[in-house]
Amino acid sequence: MSAARARTPAEIRGQRRSRSHSCWNHLIAAPLWPKYGVNLGTLLRTCDAVGACLAVPRRPWVPEALEHGNTLRRRTCVHWVDGRAERWLDRQRRGGSAIVGVELTDESIRLADLPAARRRTVMVLGHESTGIPPEGLEMLDLAVEIPMIGTGLSLNVAVAGSLVLYKLAGLC
Ligand SMILES: C[S@@+](CC[C@H](N)C(=O)[O-])C[C@H]1O[C@@H](n2cnc3c(N)ncnc32)[C@H](O)[C@@H]1O
Repeated sequence: MSAARARTPAEIRGQRRSRSHSCWNHLIAAPLWPKYGVNLGTLLRTCDAVGACLAVPRRPWVPEALEHGNTLRRRTCVHWVDGRAERWLDRQRRGGSAIVGVELTDESIRLADLPAARRRTVMVLGHESTGIPPEGLEMLDLAVEIPMIGTGLSLNVAVAGSLVLYKLAGLC
């Protein structure tokens, strides 16, 4: 193979959408117990890349974190979650969505075995220190774990969420 040439920004831009996607409402990343705003910004960017929406609790600091973390010119779709996260998840499930938790549980399947989303899917992420609370785990149809062979106990939540989003979107 001859030496690869990095594509120019103009070449890459020509392959992208000219406008951000509207609410496709098919795949939703849900960091429902966020601690650090920077992770929300990272997830928002992955949502744009894979055509997903972001669902976040309506807390006073969250809008500013999203505004600050948005490094794209246009922002992707955000759903605001009012009240208790578990109740919102319950409503999503009753509405026919699959609820996929990204968590290290004793019943988690491995990321490689996770199929792409075939129906509306909510991907739930846990709190940076304490993970998905027990009430949230009760709402899951499925939990997925990203295998690790290092010394750390877990990945950064935005990294974990981004990996799973790509798989659910069928882009890897
Ligand atoms: C930093 S971890 C929380 C770890 C926390 N110490 C615990 O005991 O649950 C934050 C979130 O990232 C996600 N996460 C991180 N690493 C993961 C992995 N290897 N597999 C699945 N989810 C992971 C989960 O959503 C988790 O709740």
